[in-house]
Amino acid sequence: MDNTFAQDVIKGLTSKDKYLPSKYFYDDNGSRIFQEIMQMPEYYPTNSEFEILSLQAKQIIDKLEFSEPFNIIELGAGDGFKTFKLLEYLVSKEIDFTYMPIDISKEANKILEARLKQRLPKLSIKPKTGDYFEVLKKIGKKNTPNLLLFLGGNIGNYPKDQAINLLKILNGNMNRGDKLLIGMDLRKNPITIHNAYYDSNGITKRFNINLLIRINRELNADFKVDDFDFYSYYNPENGKVKSYLVSLKAQTVDFKQIGKTINFNQNELIWTELSKKYNSSEIETMAKLTNFKVNHNFMDCKHYFTDSLWEKK
Ligand code: AVI
Repeated sequence: MDNTFAQDVIKGLTSKDKYLPSKYFYDDNGSRIFQEIMQMPEYYPTNSEFEILSLQAKQIIDKLEFSEPFNIIELGAGDGFKTFKLLEYLVSKEIDFTYMPIDISKEANKILEARLKQRLPKLSIKPKTGDYFEVLKKIGKKNTPNLLLFLGGNIGNYPKDQAINLLKILNGNMNRGDKLLIGMDLRKNPITIHNAYYDSNGITKRFNINLLIRINRELNADFKVDDFDFYSYYNPENGKVKSYLVSLKAQTVDFKQIGKTINFNQNELIWTELSKKYNSSEIETMAKLTNFKVNHNFMDCKHYFTDSLWEKK
């Protein structure tokens, strides 16, 4: 098996407690379903972060205390919808900066560049294609101050050790005084969180089931998707949303090419995703453990979400 997707899937499904890595949600179809999630009224993080970047762009930029020119390097810009507000502010004030979105897909970068150029003709944009860390290694070396953007709350999808590891690698590729603006979803009324991940229209269920469809297509497996359901719950004691696929009956799934059969018991779970919600002391601890200092938490008016500004010590 030379394919990491196949290896990761088989590893997850042959462990005692079955799991699948959530990073595999995002094939073309999964990315489209995620767009639908972001438009659901129950899925508050998108609106909260949009509000922060729309209403507090000036405060965020002032707090950087950067000399010009500087770089804004974005990890996983997506469609650039949220970042647009920040960029629009900077361009309108004629601040001297270069926007460098990093994405693994050249195509996604091209689309983003064309769209931004159309809406902000004066924007200096240099998209970088490739793995975050490879690209960062090259950009980080120069003397220009850098603001890294890691928005959307993606950090919450990494288990704690992996999140810390990722932040340490980011830190290692930054210069002293460089800053990181990191989106983190905050603890709040558990019912609000529950409804964002266990939506009544089943869109998040579709997002999870799509992973089985992807496995069937790419790894030639035969998951019968109607025999799986979706379950998600929020534990307010530890701030973790955990999402699962549930096998509705005892069944087997064949991976023909790989020559593997996986057995499922009735009601057996496949853990598919973690979405961690933070409180302020956890944010401080994460920053401290990874050699950052928290400069400021920019929150929406409901205090649902923070774009936390960290400085490399
Ligand atoms: C991408 N990430 C921050 C989303 C989240 O909220 O954890 C993914 C998601 N999963 C279900 N709904 C949204």
